[in-house]
Amino acid sequence: MFSILLNKDKILQFTSNSLFTFDLKIFNIIDSTNSFLLNNFETLPLNKDSIPVIAAEIQTKGRGRIGRSWHSELGSGLTFSLIWHFREGVAKLTGLSLAIGVAIIRVLRAFAVNQVNLKWPNDLLYDDCKLGGILVELRGKISGPAYAIIGIGINFNLSLPIKSAIHQNSTDLFQITGRYQDRNVFLSALLLELCNTLSSFEVYGFSYFRAEWISYHAYHGKSVTLLLPNNSFVSGRVDSVNSDGSICLLTSTGRHSYSVGDISMRLTD
Ligand code: BTN
Repeated sequence: MFSILLNKDKILQFTSNSLFTFDLKIFNIIDSTNSFLLNNFETLPLNKDSIPVIAAEIQTKGRGRIGRSWHSELGSGLTFSLIWHFREGVAKLTGLSLAIGVAIIRVLRAFAVNQVNLKWPNDLLYDDCKLGGILVELRGKISGPAYAIIGIGINFNLSLPIKSAIHQNSTDLFQITGRYQDRNVFLSALLLELCNTLSSFEVYGFSYFRAEWISYHAYHGKSVTLLLPNNSFVSGRVDSVNSDGSICLLTSTGRHSYSVGDISMRLTD
């Protein structure tokens, strides 16, 4: 499988004009980039001068939302995490993972990948197949400060065995575009856009991104089934996404909102 390896010098060179600097470490193999940051959280210099970023060629225990696994292999995708320090507390971070989805879509569109959309809360979807996902884990106090460990996985070129290990329809950038994308160039652009997005989020919250997010929603106005954490289902039509990032469904018993987190969604029509 063709892939240009991740290269620290190249990534730092592409991001060198930014106001932000990145403390980037690239691992050949690691359990999970999110777990690494969570486990080493106490020892990292957490300030805005240098943003800790961990990228990996291979994750042996890549993690997804609601206890799922994230499958990847050497060169098959981009798997990385960073820590963002918020002066405000955890209570002000509702909708953060949705705003990050907006950042990724913006970068994909800048690379002329126009048909990728979002599925609430933060899956990247192309033609109903999963291209990527976001795992945000929060640490800190309700009133602040707070830290977000932001993990992103994007498929670039999946082998058949990996595709069959993923228990849902999946796709990758090579399949979508027919081009081999240099992950270094993409990661650099994404780091810059994430800083831009996270800076705006800090000031304005998710409401600043809400209309843009809705414009990218693959299931807007569609009939869906929500799988709740207690394994019960709710059916309804997607009405909107609220400014706290929760989704609003029109159900047989009226309009109801469901929070970001442990909800999964399945299309029913
Ligand atoms: C999901 O779709 O459920 C979220 C997937 C997030 C995967 C990324 S890969 C980099 C980072 N490290 C992890 O262990 N998970 C995230």
